[in-house]
Amino acid sequence: MRDRVLILGGTGEAAALAGRLHRQGLQVITSLAGRLAHPPALEGAVRIGGFGGVAGLADFLVTEKISRVIDATHPFAATISAHARAVCRQLGLPLERLERPVWPKRPGDRWFWATDMAMAARMAPKLGRRIFLTVGAGSLVAFTKFGGPFYLIRLMESPAVDRPLFPRQAVLVDGGPFQLADEKRLLRHFAIDLLVSKQSGGPATAAKITAARQLGIPVLLIRRPWDAADGCDPGHKAGCR
Ligand SMILES: NC(=O)c1ccc[n+]([C@@H]2O[C@H](COP(=O)([O-])OP(=O)(O)OC[C@H]3O[C@@H](n4cnc5c(N)ncnc54)[C@H](OP(=O)(O)O)[C@@H]3O)[C@@H](O)[C@H]2O)c1
Repeated sequence: MRDRVLILGGTGEAAALAGRLHRQGLQVITSLAGRLAHPPALEGAVRIGGFGGVAGLADFLVTEKISRVIDATHPFAATISAHARAVCRQLGLPLERLERPVWPKRPGDRWFWATDMAMAARMAPKLGRRIFLTVGAGSLVAFTKFGGPFYLIRLMESPAVDRPLFPRQAVLVDGGPFQLADEKRLLRHFAIDLLVSKQSGGPATAAKITAARQLGIPVLLIRRPWDAADGCDPGHKAGCR
């Protein structure tokens, strides 16, 4: 029987993998959480929306006769990854993880670390007055308590609500990938003095990190969930996953 593969997706890497496996003749279903109103087209089958926790995911895997699960979700999507580990262990199914390498710290980087979004929101106004927030729509709310600075917000899709989140803000809608020259132009144009980002890693959004380094702009990075739990700093500590 041909492998029936479930890819837990929502990333560029997951989309590319779905294409590769589909073209190899495997039966591929990509699962998306449904966060985007207009998700990109994918090769193979697609299902959208939460499974309904661990029990719902287990039901889905059994009903759909899935023989292999690949977790290609974003490094910060910790809940669905934990569910996949629990369910695959319970059902004895093979689980592969497509882990995106962290951005390595390079000479000239001026990095600060927060262990979670609430900590980043508290730190940001102390580090900058014109802040470029690239943390994803779902994480902006943590910053709204700290309305003093100017915030440049970049989102993948237009916000559902038009009401501004901050007294002084600008919103850009752009899903990338981003080029270094454009990122530098943007940082200069808005006179940004702090970039805030998850330690997402991967090439699609790396240009902002390089641009900040080249312009001498500090970057406040939010640690990956497992990393925050381990107290491990991938920018400094050898042997970190
Ligand atoms: N977090 C980020 O910064 C980020 C950035 C870019 C893309 N994404 C993508 O966006 C999705 C949601 O991210 P998140 O951080 O909200 O995830 P999360 O916190 O790990 O998951 C929350 C809940 O969303 C549902 N879910 C998440 N990913 C799913 C998927 N691929 N298919 C079906 N259901 C899914 C699950 O609901 P049930 O419990 O009901 O199954 C899960 O319990 C992920 O697929 C991720 O790859 C996340």
